[in-house]
Amino acid sequence: MQVKVAKHNPYVAMMYGEFAPWSFDESALDNRGQWRSAVFQCPEHVPLDLEIGTGNGTHFAHLTETHPERCLVGLELKYKTLVQSIRRSLRAGCKNGRMAKIGAEQISELFAPEEINNVYIHFPDPWPKKRQQKNRLIQEKFLKDLYMAMKPGGEVEFKTDHYGYFLWAVSKFRSSPFIIEFFTEDLHRSFRKDKNFVTHFESLFLHKRQPIFCCILKKAIP
Ligand SMILES: C[S@@+](CC[C@H](N)C(=O)[O-])C[C@H]1O[C@@H](n2cnc3c(N)ncnc32)[C@H](O)[C@@H]1O
Repeated sequence: MQVKVAKHNPYVAMMYGEFAPWSFDESALDNRGQWRSAVFQCPEHVPLDLEIGTGNGTHFAHLTETHPERCLVGLELKYKTLVQSIRRSLRAGCKNGRMAKIGAEQISELFAPEEINNVYIHFPDPWPKKRQQKNRLIQEKFLKDLYMAMKPGGEVEFKTDHYGYFLWAVSKFRSSPFIIEFFTEDLHRSFRKDKNFVTHFESLFLHKRQPIFCCILKKAIP
């Protein structure tokens, strides 16, 4: 990888230095269709999951640690959180995670059709103002691309604290090819609470006693 960015951010040096074997910038696009064979060097039957917007990586590290039999690609836009995510996973002794500094909107360029299994989207930026809504990740085109990239049987876990975004997302999910398998306006009072992993942002909202909205989507097996 080539270093393109100013060196004053210590996380840039870390990403291109000690964490380079585990990180990608736009070079991640070269892995399309080859994440298993070229990056993880694992057989094609090994499940490959995707986490969008890993933040400080608590869930990313948890998933790589609790599922050594799966591989995980994390996407982040910020150097600091990218480095935190991969560092946390490596410290837990995991080699089955990789991070890419690239926007999830590029999903169709990152993954070939049916390349990925499960997908996690936890607390995406809500862009609360009306004029900002065009920036929300959940859009018709994104859902189409995500559906294409996933294998039949794969699931998407979507969580947010923002009710307006939740309603927006659910209306987009309803007109997408996904099946809505589960839906709650209060995850922590639902039966899914016990299998839920509390992410960093989720812990902040729970602290303020805010409900967590959650939706599970499935790509049906034909
Ligand atoms: C509110 S934080 C949530 C972090 C984490 N998922 C959690 O639950 O603690 C949203 C994260 O998504 C990242 N992000 C925002 N837009 C993104 C995009 N288009 N693609 C990938 N990551 C994105 C941000 O940099 C930020 O770290």
